[in-house]
Amino acid sequence: MSFAAMSEDGADRLHVPVMAVEVVELLSAPDPSQIVDVTLGVGGHAAAMLEAAPRARLLGIDHDAIAIAHARESLASFEDRVTLVQANFAEISSVMRDAGIASADAILADLGMSSLALDDAARGFSFRLDGPLDMRMDQRAPLRAYDLINEEPEAELARMFRDYGEERMPGRIARTIVEARRKHRIETTGELRALVERAIGPHRRGGIHPATRTFQALRIAVNHELESLEKFLRNAPALLAPVRRSRTCQWSTDRALLENQIRWPRLVQRKSLGRARSRIAIMICAAKSGGTPC
Ligand SMILES: C[S@@+](CC[C@H](N)C(=O)[O-])C[C@H]1O[C@@H](n2cnc3c(N)ncnc32)[C@H](O)[C@@H]1O
Repeated sequence: MSFAAMSEDGADRLHVPVMAVEVVELLSAPDPSQIVDVTLGVGGHAAAMLEAAPRARLLGIDHDAIAIAHARESLASFEDRVTLVQANFAEISSVMRDAGIASADAILADLGMSSLALDDAARGFSFRLDGPLDMRMDQRAPLRAYDLINEEPEAELARMFRDYGEERMPGRIARTIVEARRKHRIETTGELRALVERAIGPHRRGGIHPATRTFQALRIAVNHELESLEKFLRNAPALLAPVRRSRTCQWSTDRALLENQIRWPRLVQRKSLGRARSRIAIMICAAKSGGTPC
Protein backbone atom coordinates (compact mmCIF):
# COMPACT_ATOMS: atom_id res chain seq x y z
CA MET A 1 0.00 0.00 0.00
CA SER A 2 1.57 3.27 -1.00
CA PHE A 3 1.41 6.32 1.20
CA ALA A 4 -0.74 8.20 -1.29
CA ALA A 5 -3.12 5.34 -1.99
CA MET A 6 -3.82 4.50 1.64
CA SER A 7 -7.47 4.60 2.68
CA GLU A 8 -8.70 6.23 5.90
CA ASP A 9 -9.31 2.78 7.36
CA GLY A 10 -5.86 1.66 6.30
CA ALA A 11 -4.30 4.70 7.93
CA ASP A 12 -6.09 3.99 11.21
CA ARG A 13 -5.04 0.35 11.16
CA LEU A 14 -1.44 1.32 10.47
CA HIS A 15 -1.28 3.57 13.48
CA VAL A 16 -2.46 0.98 16.01
CA PRO A 17 0.69 -0.41 17.63
CA VAL A 18 0.42 -4.07 18.62
CA MET A 19 2.27 -3.92 21.92
CA ALA A 20 1.60 -0.43 23.24
CA VAL A 21 0.55 -1.62 26.71
CA GLU A 22 3.61 -3.82 27.19
CA VAL A 23 5.94 -1.18 25.81
CA VAL A 24 4.64 1.54 28.09
CA GLU A 25 4.80 -0.82 31.08
CA LEU A 26 8.43 -1.47 30.25
CA LEU A 27 9.39 2.18 30.32
CA SER A 28 11.19 1.52 33.56
CA ALA A 29 12.20 5.01 34.56
CA PRO A 30 9.05 6.70 35.90
CA ASP A 31 9.98 9.99 34.30
CA PRO A 32 12.27 9.29 31.37
CA SER A 33 13.79 12.31 29.70
CA GLN A 34 15.11 10.66 26.54
CA ILE A 35 13.61 7.70 24.66
CA VAL A 36 14.99 6.22 21.45
CA ASP A 37 12.66 4.21 19.21
CA VAL A 38 14.92 2.55 16.64
CA THR A 39 12.05 0.97 14.66
CA LEU A 40 9.78 3.97 14.42
CA GLY A 41 7.47 2.59 11.71
CA VAL A 42 4.44 4.86 11.50
CA GLY A 43 5.01 6.03 15.05
CA GLY A 44 2.38 4.04 16.99
CA HIS A 45 4.65 2.98 19.86
CA ALA A 46 6.41 6.32 19.79
CA ALA A 47 3.08 8.12 20.30
CA ALA A 48 2.13 5.77 23.16
CA MET A 49 5.47 6.41 24.90
CA LEU A 50 5.31 10.17 24.38
CA GLU A 51 1.82 10.20 25.88
CA ALA A 52 2.93 8.07 28.85
CA ALA A 53 6.01 10.22 29.47
CA PRO A 54 4.92 13.83 28.95
CA ARG A 55 8.34 15.33 29.65
CA ALA A 56 10.32 12.92 27.47
CA ARG A 57 11.94 13.69 24.15
CA LEU A 58 12.00 10.94 21.54
CA LEU A 59 14.56 10.18 18.86
CA GLY A 60 12.84 8.06 16.20
CA ILE A 61 14.93 6.03 13.77
CA ASP A 62 13.78 3.98 10.78
CA HIS A 63 15.64 3.11 7.62
CA ASP A 64 12.47 3.27 5.54
CA ALA A 65 11.85 6.75 4.12
CA ILE A 66 8.12 6.05 3.65
CA ALA A 67 7.75 5.06 7.31
CA ILE A 68 9.53 8.24 8.39
CA ALA A 69 7.17 10.33 6.25
CA HIS A 70 4.16 8.66 7.88
CA ALA A 71 5.57 9.06 11.38
CA ARG A 72 6.22 12.74 10.73
CA GLU A 73 2.47 13.15 10.16
CA SER A 74 1.27 10.90 12.98
CA LEU A 75 3.60 12.51 15.55
CA ALA A 76 2.93 16.09 14.40
CA SER A 77 1.25 17.00 17.69
CA PHE A 78 4.45 16.08 19.62
CA GLU A 79 6.60 18.01 17.19
CA ASP A 80 8.78 19.92 19.65
CA ARG A 81 9.65 16.69 21.53
CA VAL A 82 10.50 14.55 18.51
CA THR A 83 13.52 14.15 16.24
CA LEU A 84 13.22 11.72 13.31
CA VAL A 85 16.15 10.29 11.38
CA GLN A 86 16.25 7.89 8.43
CA ALA A 87 19.02 5.45 9.37
CA ASN A 88 19.80 1.83 10.14
CA PHE A 89 19.63 1.01 13.86
CA ALA A 90 23.05 -0.58 13.52
CA GLU A 91 24.25 3.05 13.41
CA ILE A 92 22.49 4.03 16.65
CA SER A 93 25.71 5.37 18.21
CA SER A 94 26.48 7.86 15.44
CA VAL A 95 22.81 8.84 15.00
CA MET A 96 22.56 9.69 18.70
CA ARG A 97 25.89 11.51 18.61
CA ASP A 98 24.85 13.58 15.56
CA ALA A 99 21.56 14.43 17.28
CA GLY A 100 23.50 15.62 20.34
CA ILE A 101 22.09 12.89 22.60
CA ALA A 102 24.62 11.47 25.05
CA SER A 103 22.43 8.74 26.58
CA ALA A 104 18.89 7.34 26.62
CA ASP A 105 16.61 6.13 29.40
CA ALA A 106 14.91 3.60 27.15
CA ILE A 107 15.61 2.16 23.74
CA LEU A 108 12.87 0.27 21.91
CA ALA A 109 13.30 -2.08 18.96
CA ASP A 110 10.06 -3.62 17.62
CA LEU A 111 11.57 -5.87 15.01
CA GLY A 112 10.14 -6.99 11.72
CA MET A 113 8.08 -5.53 8.96
CA SER A 114 5.48 -2.82 9.02
CA SER A 115 2.21 -3.55 7.26
CA LEU A 116 2.87 -0.30 5.42
CA ALA A 117 5.74 -1.98 3.55
CA LEU A 118 4.29 -5.51 3.48
CA ASP A 119 1.02 -4.41 1.88
CA ASP A 120 2.70 -2.35 -0.83
CA ALA A 121 3.01 -4.65 -3.88
CA ALA A 122 5.60 -2.34 -5.46
CA ARG A 123 8.04 -3.08 -2.62
CA GLY A 124 8.05 -6.80 -3.33
CA PHE A 125 7.90 -8.19 0.22
CA SER A 126 4.75 -10.28 -0.12
CA PHE A 127 4.14 -13.49 -2.01
CA ARG A 128 0.43 -12.67 -1.83
CA LEU A 129 0.80 -9.60 -4.04
CA ASP A 130 2.48 -9.54 -7.43
CA GLY A 131 5.25 -6.99 -7.71
CA PRO A 132 8.93 -6.54 -8.55
CA LEU A 133 11.45 -8.62 -6.58
CA ASP A 134 12.74 -5.74 -4.49
CA MET A 135 12.41 -6.24 -0.68
CA ARG A 136 14.67 -3.32 0.28
CA MET A 137 13.56 -1.77 3.57
CA ASP A 138 15.95 1.11 2.89
CA GLN A 139 15.19 2.28 -0.62
CA ARG A 140 18.74 3.72 -0.94
CA ALA A 141 20.38 0.28 -0.59
CA PRO A 142 21.89 -1.16 -3.78
CA LEU A 143 20.97 -4.86 -3.36
CA ARG A 144 17.49 -6.14 -4.29
CA ALA A 145 15.95 -9.61 -3.98
CA TYR A 146 16.08 -9.65 -7.81
CA ASP A 147 19.91 -9.51 -7.68
CA LEU A 148 20.16 -12.42 -5.24
CA ILE A 149 17.61 -14.60 -7.03
CA ASN A 150 19.21 -14.05 -10.43
CA GLU A 151 22.91 -13.95 -9.51
CA GLU A 152 23.68 -16.05 -6.43
CA PRO A 153 25.09 -19.56 -6.96
CA GLU A 154 22.70 -22.43 -6.25
CA ALA A 155 24.55 -23.47 -3.08
CA GLU A 156 24.39 -19.94 -1.65
CA LEU A 157 20.66 -19.69 -2.37
CA ALA A 158 20.12 -23.00 -0.59
CA ARG A 159 22.20 -21.83 2.39
CA MET A 160 20.16 -18.63 2.65
CA PHE A 161 16.83 -20.45 2.54
CA ARG A 162 18.01 -22.90 5.20
CA ASP A 163 19.81 -20.49 7.53
CA TYR A 164 17.51 -17.46 7.31
CA GLY A 165 14.21 -19.18 6.55
CA GLU A 166 14.60 -22.53 8.31
CA GLU A 167 13.32 -23.97 5.03
CA ARG A 168 13.19 -27.76 5.10
CA MET A 169 13.79 -28.26 1.37
CA PRO A 170 16.22 -25.46 0.51
CA GLY A 171 18.12 -27.45 -2.13
CA ARG A 172 15.02 -28.20 -4.19
CA ILE A 173 13.94 -24.58 -4.22
CA ALA A 174 17.44 -23.35 -5.14
CA ARG A 175 17.71 -25.90 -7.96
CA THR A 176 14.30 -24.96 -9.39
CA ILE A 177 15.24 -21.27 -9.35
CA VAL A 178 18.58 -21.84 -11.06
CA GLU A 179 16.98 -24.01 -13.77
CA ALA A 180 14.30 -21.38 -14.40
CA ARG A 181 16.72 -18.47 -14.61
CA ARG A 182 18.74 -20.23 -17.35
CA LYS A 183 15.73 -19.54 -19.60
CA HIS A 184 14.93 -16.00 -18.47
CA ARG A 185 15.50 -13.73 -15.51
CA ILE A 186 13.06 -14.00 -12.62
CA GLU A 187 11.44 -10.59 -12.26
CA THR A 188 8.44 -10.76 -9.94
CA THR A 189 7.21 -12.06 -6.59
CA GLY A 190 4.52 -13.99 -8.48
CA GLU A 191 7.14 -15.83 -10.55
CA LEU A 192 9.17 -16.69 -7.45
CA ARG A 193 6.10 -17.89 -5.58
CA ALA A 194 5.18 -20.17 -8.53
CA LEU A 195 8.73 -21.59 -8.61
CA VAL A 196 8.64 -22.40 -4.88
CA GLU A 197 5.27 -24.10 -5.34
CA ARG A 198 6.71 -26.06 -8.27
CA ALA A 199 9.69 -27.11 -6.14
CA ILE A 200 7.96 -28.14 -2.92
CA GLY A 201 4.27 -28.40 -3.70
CA PRO A 202 1.17 -26.22 -3.41
CA HIS A 203 -0.33 -24.60 -0.34
CA ARG A 204 -2.02 -27.15 1.91
CA ARG A 205 -5.02 -26.24 4.04
CA GLY A 206 -4.05 -25.37 7.58
CA GLY A 207 -0.32 -24.93 6.87
CA ILE A 208 1.74 -21.86 6.13
CA HIS A 209 2.12 -20.99 2.47
CA PRO A 210 5.13 -22.87 0.99
CA ALA A 211 6.74 -19.58 -0.11
CA THR A 212 6.70 -18.10 3.42
CA ARG A 213 10.16 -19.28 4.47
CA THR A 214 11.80 -18.47 1.14
CA PHE A 215 10.45 -14.92 1.21
CA GLN A 216 11.50 -14.46 4.84
CA ALA A 217 15.01 -15.68 4.05
CA LEU A 218 15.35 -13.34 1.09
CA ARG A 219 14.16 -10.34 3.10
CA ILE A 220 16.68 -11.09 5.86
CA ALA A 221 19.49 -11.45 3.31
CA VAL A 222 18.59 -8.36 1.27
CA ASN A 223 18.46 -6.15 4.35
CA HIS A 224 21.41 -7.73 6.23
CA GLU A 225 19.00 -8.00 9.15
CA LEU A 226 21.07 -10.28 11.37
CA GLU A 227 24.23 -8.20 10.97
CA SER A 228 22.29 -5.02 11.81
CA LEU A 229 20.66 -6.57 14.86
CA GLU A 230 23.96 -7.95 16.10
CA LYS A 231 25.59 -4.52 15.80
CA PHE A 232 22.63 -2.79 17.44
CA LEU A 233 22.65 -5.20 20.38
CA ARG A 234 26.39 -4.72 20.79
CA ASN A 235 26.14 -0.92 20.86
CA ALA A 236 22.81 -0.12 22.52
CA PRO A 237 23.47 -1.05 26.18
CA ALA A 238 26.40 1.38 26.37
CA LEU A 239 24.15 4.22 25.24
CA LEU A 240 21.89 3.97 28.26
CA ALA A 241 21.85 6.42 31.12
CA PRO A 242 23.02 4.80 34.41
CA VAL A 243 22.50 1.17 33.67
CA ARG A 244 21.62 -1.21 36.43
CA ARG A 245 19.49 -3.64 34.59
CA SER A 246 17.94 -4.03 31.23
CA ARG A 247 15.05 -5.98 29.90
CA THR A 248 13.94 -7.10 26.54
CA CYS A 249 10.82 -8.76 25.40
CA GLN A 250 10.95 -10.98 22.44
CA TRP A 251 8.74 -13.47 20.77
CA SER A 252 8.56 -14.27 17.17
CA THR A 253 8.01 -16.82 14.49
CA ASP A 254 11.66 -16.06 13.67
CA ARG A 255 12.57 -16.85 17.27
CA ALA A 256 14.56 -20.00 16.66
CA LEU A 257 16.52 -18.25 13.97
CA LEU A 258 17.37 -15.35 16.20
CA GLU A 259 18.15 -17.59 19.15
CA ASN A 260 20.65 -19.48 17.06
CA GLN A 261 22.27 -16.62 15.25
CA ILE A 262 22.37 -13.66 17.55
CA ARG A 263 24.65 -13.28 20.53
CA TRP A 264 22.68 -11.34 23.11
CA PRO A 265 24.67 -8.96 25.28
CA ARG A 266 24.88 -9.90 28.93
CA LEU A 267 22.89 -6.83 29.92
CA VAL A 268 19.92 -7.82 27.85
CA GLN A 269 17.46 -10.27 29.32
CA ARG A 270 14.65 -11.69 27.29
CA LYS A 271 11.07 -12.33 28.15
CA SER A 272 8.39 -13.78 25.97
CA LEU A 273 5.44 -11.65 25.16
CA GLY A 274 2.36 -13.80 24.89
CA ARG A 275 -0.03 -11.28 23.45
CA ALA A 276 2.00 -10.55 20.37
CA ARG A 277 3.35 -13.90 19.42
CA SER A 278 4.44 -13.01 15.95
CA ARG A 279 6.52 -10.05 16.95
CA ILE A 280 9.83 -9.39 18.60
CA ALA A 281 10.30 -6.32 20.70
CA ILE A 282 13.46 -5.46 22.44
CA MET A 283 13.23 -2.86 25.13
CA ILE A 284 16.44 -1.85 26.81
CA CYS A 285 15.90 0.40 29.79
CA ALA A 286 18.13 2.19 32.20
CA ALA A 287 16.99 1.97 35.80
CA LYS A 288 17.14 5.44 37.29
CA SER A 289 17.77 5.73 40.97
CA GLY A 290 14.43 5.67 42.72
CA GLY A 291 12.76 4.16 39.68
CA THR A 292 11.52 0.64 39.30
CA PRO A 293 14.20 -1.38 37.56
CA CYS A 294 12.77 -3.26 34.62
C1 LIG B 1 7.27 -3.76 13.14
S1 LIG B 1 7.63 -2.23 12.42
C2 LIG B 1 7.57 -1.11 13.75
C3 LIG B 1 6.22 -0.51 13.98
C4 LIG B 1 6.26 0.60 15.02
N1 LIG B 1 6.63 0.12 16.33
C5 LIG B 1 4.93 1.31 15.09
O1 LIG B 1 4.36 1.41 16.18
O2 LIG B 1 4.48 1.78 14.04
C6 LIG B 1 9.35 -2.35 12.20
C7 LIG B 1 9.98 -1.11 11.60
O3 LIG B 1 11.38 -1.22 11.80
C8 LIG B 1 12.04 -0.77 10.65
N2 LIG B 1 13.34 -1.44 10.65
C9 LIG B 1 13.59 -2.77 10.52
N3 LIG B 1 14.91 -3.00 10.56
C10 LIG B 1 15.51 -1.79 10.73
C11 LIG B 1 16.87 -1.38 10.85
N4 LIG B 1 17.87 -2.25 10.77
N5 LIG B 1 17.12 -0.07 11.03
C12 LIG B 1 16.10 0.84 11.09
N6 LIG B 1 14.80 0.51 10.97
C13 LIG B 1 14.51 -0.79 10.80
C14 LIG B 1 11.14 -1.15 9.49
O4 LIG B 1 11.39 -0.32 8.38
C15 LIG B 1 9.75 -0.94 10.11
O5 LIG B 1 9.25 0.34 9.84
